[in-house]
Amino acid sequence: MSLKLNVIALALLVLFASHANAQVFDVTANGARPNADSTQALLATWKQACASPTRSKVVVPKGIFMITKAILQGPCKAPIEFNLQGTLQAPPVGSGNFKGGDTWIAFDNVNFLTVSGFGVFDGQGSSAWGQKCDHTELCGSRPINIRFDFVTNSIVQDVTSRDSKQFHVNVLGGRNVTFHNFKAIAPGNSPNTDGIHIGRSTDVKILNSNIQTGDDCVSIGDGSKQITVTKVTCGPGHGISIGSLGKYPNEQPVQGIFVTGCTLINTQNGVRIKTWPNSYPGTASDIHFEDIVMENVGNPVLIDQEYCPRNECNLKVPSKVKLSNISFKSIRGTTSTPLAVNLVCSQAFPCQNVILQDINLRSSGSGGQVTSHCKNVKPTVSGTQIPAPCLTTG
Ligand SMILES: *[C@@H]1O[C@H](CO)[C@@H](O)[C@H](O)[C@H]1NC(C)=O
Ligand SMILES: *[C@@H]1O[C@H](CO)[C@@H](O)[C@H](O)[C@H]1NC(C)=O
Repeated sequence: MSLKLNVIALALLVLFASHANAQVFDVTANGARPNADSTQALLATWKQACASPTRSKVVVPKGIFMITKAILQGPCKAPIEFNLQGTLQAPPVGSGNFKGGDTWIAFDNVNFLTVSGFGVFDGQGSSAWGQKCDHTELCGSRPINIRFDFVTNSIVQDVTSRDSKQFHVNVLGGRNVTFHNFKAIAPGNSPNTDGIHIGRSTDVKILNSNIQTGDDCVSIGDGSKQITVTKVTCGPGHGISIGSLGKYPNEQPVQGIFVTGCTLINTQNGVRIKTWPNSYPGTASDIHFEDIVMENVGNPVLIDQEYCPRNECNLKVPSKVKLSNISFKSIRGTTSTPLAVNLVCSQAFPCQNVILQDINLRSSGSGGQVTSHCKNVKPTVSGTQIPAPCLTTG
């Protein structure tokens, strides 16, 4: 064989290897030890990997590694994988290592991040939930299990978030982020433990995931665009929510939300859009719920523009959030509340272009009547309609 061909073959091999094989950075090489505080080792390992000029991989092997708090900071020089095979464990509230604040583990400003492995982010939240969480301020100051702040072109797969003290996952300022085969697990009565909250992000996908928690399964806040939630199973929890919107000034529009092929089991709500009365202006449009199975779900189809969880608002002043181009198609299964379809829109800005198509919801109790109600909205209906569609807008 000619030298020239050999050189080409070698060049191809090097090219292939540099793509396929990441340089591995194992946290135990930097002093991480099972059942011991490994925070410094994790941070040091991330820093080395992030500085690698070629593709890198941080490995957390099997075992329980205690982490007080870790902000895994980018930007990195090349694509980086965070491979979690073991468990990262947060300190319980009240222990000497508990730092408070609103962050436990954060990925910040990283492009081409992959989070992989079948490991667990264990927030040890039961130590926090016992203390009453009546006000958003108090709940909000608890650590979120995993933050993705300004993370782009990234994939999060196979890992589990367990017993977060507050939200399991918060995505802020993200673009092109996919969750695949992700799990979040916490008891149904754990307060404020939303599964995945998305805000100010574009092109986020949540696929084939399972979220069992105490608050919203997925919640989508202001500034979210092109969000896809497909084949996600939720429950227990509060269901899949857009909002709440309108609580704060200068909220960005919500646009292009596609929730398809999801199953909700024993959740407090099904699919809902919630906005505050007496609110700041905002818009949410192009929101589509399709092919959703409800099993013993309360309020399966809900638009609530009088959202006021602790009755601290003035319901006489209508919401200023404009809702338009919303569809509910092929929503079927059983409801635990008689009111199965409830569309409460703002008197100041009635909902525009709401479509109900093929709704088939029956009582999960002993055959009680199910009903629908509309306020400040005239939905366009077609196909099966159980319950009978609301005809008035009173
Ligand atoms: C989105 O991110 C994935 C994962 O890194 C990447 O393969 C893909 O090319 C990105 N898509 C765009 C449009 O940048
Ligand atoms: C709603 O849909 C209509 C028709 O498809 C479109 O013309 C309009 O721009 C949409 N409105 C918003 C706010 O997206």
